[in-house]
Amino acid sequence: MRLVIMPDPTSATQLAASAVMSLLSSRDRPVLGLATGRTMEGVYRDLCKSHDRDEIDFSKTTTFNLDEYVGLSSSDPESYRHYMQDHLFDHVNIAPDATHLPDGTAENLDAECASYEAAIARSGGIDLQLLGIGETGHIGFNEPPSAFDTRTRCVTLTPTTRQQNAAMFGGDPAKVPEHALTMGVGTILEARQLLLLALGDGKAAIVARALEGEVGPEISASAIRLHARCTVILDEASASLLSPETLESAKIHRGS
Ligand code: GLP
Repeated sequence: MRLVIMPDPTSATQLAASAVMSLLSSRDRPVLGLATGRTMEGVYRDLCKSHDRDEIDFSKTTTFNLDEYVGLSSSDPESYRHYMQDHLFDHVNIAPDATHLPDGTAENLDAECASYEAAIARSGGIDLQLLGIGETGHIGFNEPPSAFDTRTRCVTLTPTTRQQNAAMFGGDPAKVPEHALTMGVGTILEARQLLLLALGDGKAAIVARALEGEVGPEISASAIRLHARCTVILDEASASLLSPETLESAKIHRGS
């Protein structure tokens, strides 16, 4: 695992966006795994700006998002499909049928999950998977416990996660759907490269647990430590509870 600590959220976000840009310029047909959440908003903002400056081309890119709420349609402003259209897809030259999210309104959710896995496999697999981290230590919506061989499936969200995401639902956790479809930990680990971004002191405790605690299903983000090509980008605030030993192994960029 490569750990990079940047002085502030802006520079950490820019570094994550530049990793996506490198992938897009180095592959003929890049397959990008995307994440949602507030952490990723700046990454997509940076990518849109680069696209406006003609620095990146999405025309040959295929994307797969990590997750989607069950019961929310694409027109629902709280759906992750809506989030992706709003923050990225509507602003860049990506082919609409090359963007994939699990369909949380499918009649048969198990069949939808199986067909999502099949679509990822047909694309040749994900080159670079972006990841955020939730308060429960989840990647995607892999709530504790999530075995490391789990595949795309329907999960029940924990009260902590519904509380964490309530802001997007008018502040009311009861309005956050109880279930979601998510790539499994096993699905995520199959991506050729992982990039986890965490920002702010609110993430410091869970980042320390994920990077220094036991590797296991109670913190699905700890699974990334088993991946051969994984980069974790933090700002100083989210890195503030890491031990001196971990910091020693990190590449630290100091602010001026
Ligand atoms: C949601 C998403 C995760 C994301 C997490 C962090 O629960 N399913 O993929 O990483 O939130 O969100 P935020 O970036 O808003 O802190």
